[in-house]
Amino acid sequence: MRVVILPSPDDVAEFAANVVTAVVNTKAKANKSCVLGLATGGTPMGLYRQLVDRYTRREISFRGVTTFNLDEYVGVPPEHVQSYHYYMQDALFKHVDFDSNANHIPKTWNCDLTESAQAYERAIKEHGGIDLQILGIGTDGHIGFNEVGSSLGSRTRLKTLTRRTRLDNARFFSIAEEVPRMALTMGIATILESRAILLMATGISKASAIAGCVEGPVSSNNPSSALQLNPNVTIVLDEEAASLLKHHEYYRDSESVLHSLSVNSMKIECS
Ligand code: PGA
Repeated sequence: MRVVILPSPDDVAEFAANVVTAVVNTKAKANKSCVLGLATGGTPMGLYRQLVDRYTRREISFRGVTTFNLDEYVGVPPEHVQSYHYYMQDALFKHVDFDSNANHIPKTWNCDLTESAQAYERAIKEHGGIDLQILGIGTDGHIGFNEVGSSLGSRTRLKTLTRRTRLDNARFFSIAEEVPRMALTMGIATILESRAILLMATGISKASAIAGCVEGPVSSNNPSSALQLNPNVTIVLDEEAASLLKHHEYYRDSESVLHSLSVNSMKIECS
């Protein structure tokens, strides 16, 4: 794992925007299709703002880019302001130049949920898999909505949200009882198949989950620890989210060595 520790949440957003821009532009230059995996929540908002700014400055185009979001609530219609369909339109999709039908989010409204989950897995495969998956992390270490105890071999499926996740997400809803109880989420095995993964975390509430993710044993007790099994993962953190890492100093040293040698450690496959 590459662990990058930066001073502030803005720096984390800028770092992530640089990675997304590099992947999209490298693939476009090589005339290759590009598939991004996207996340929702508070953390990636700064990334999406940066991408919209860069699109406005013509530094990036999303023509030919396909996206797959990690998850969607069950029981919330797509036009609901707290649905992830609405979030993505509002934060990114409506501001930039994606082709029509390029954006995929798990369907959870007026459909058979098992069939919808299987169709989502098929669609990811049909598009050749995910080049770069963006992730946030829950305070309990969830990625997507893979809550504690999720099988490390799980695929896209229905998952019940923990009480802690519902409390964490209550800030987005007018009343806590409104937070859905279930979601359709990519599985851990689905996420691990991505060719590159970038996990973003900011704030002290994420410090313990991040310590388990990076330095803990691989365990469904902290589902994000499964990322240790993918050889192309970057974890980008602000100081607070990094504050419980034991090998803090080593991560900083490795970054300065990478910088001094101008090594770009994230591999972007264009074959
Ligand atoms: P947050 O959520 O970015 O709103 O903290 C992250 C997550 O639950 O994955």
